Amino acid sequence: MRIDVVTIFPEYLEPLNVSLVGKARASGLLDVHVHDLRTWAHDRHHTVDDTPYGGGPGMVMMPGPWGEALDQTLADGYEAGARRPALVVPTPSGRPFTQETAAALAEADWLIFCPARYEGIDARVTAEYATRMPVHEVSIGDYVLAGGEAAVLVVTEAVARLLPGVLGNAQSHADDSFAPGAMADLLEGPVFTKPPTWRGQGIPDVLLSGHHGRIARWRRDEAISRTAANRPDLLRRADPAAFNRKDREM
Ligand code: ADE
Repeated sequence: MRIDVVTIFPEYLEPLNVSLVGKARASGLLDVHVHDLRTWAHDRHHTVDDTPYGGGPGMVMMPGPWGEALDQTLADGYEAGARRPALVVPTPSGRPFTQETAAALAEADWLIFCPARYEGIDARVTAEYATRMPVHEVSIGDYVLAGGEAAVLVVTEAVARLLPGVLGNAQSHADDSFAPGAMADLLEGPVFTKPPTWRGQGIPDVLLSGHHGRIARWRRDEAISRTAANRPDLLRRADPAAFNRKDREM
């Protein structure tokens, strides 16, 4: 997958060099290019924002630099062999970014992120590119960040770990909270590793029983309790099969 990010803070994207995303880049599974939007600002101060039409507080990102940046980014990507671009525009006004969105974006060949600062990007930019390619406006939560760069890091990591070959063991995201399957809509319960006793606390006996059916039932019960405590909204839409499976009788 190719990823381009156009931003006024290229250094904000440095974390894309470390950990899972950094490794995916090093192994050639992800091809990431970060561009400074101010490269396409032509005045002495490299201005990329202006006052909003209609008045109001704050500044709006001008369409000119964004248009030139995206045209150049698209031309370079096509030249390098990338195909089927999609724009991802992080904004608190976007659709909620979920595991389902991550899975859909993980199917794409080429994502171009447009993180905004200030009050956002002139709306004509997304309107223009939406005539040529999918445009996904996504919000990572109901709070307002100072800009979209942190959301780019979030979305990139959530997408990258779904790409074939990025996680060592394909099963490691099959059981995630929010992954599709029997445990969909349930949060993952607690996990334990060695030592068996730590500061006086042991681990649940069932995990030492070697009885796979009982362990699975215990994990599901823990998932249900945790979901009820932390996300009762999810429990209302969870698959009733998760509460009522044959192995509950064991
Ligand atoms: N930019 C500012 N706040 C945001 C949010 N919650 N999600 C995505 N992008 C944002």
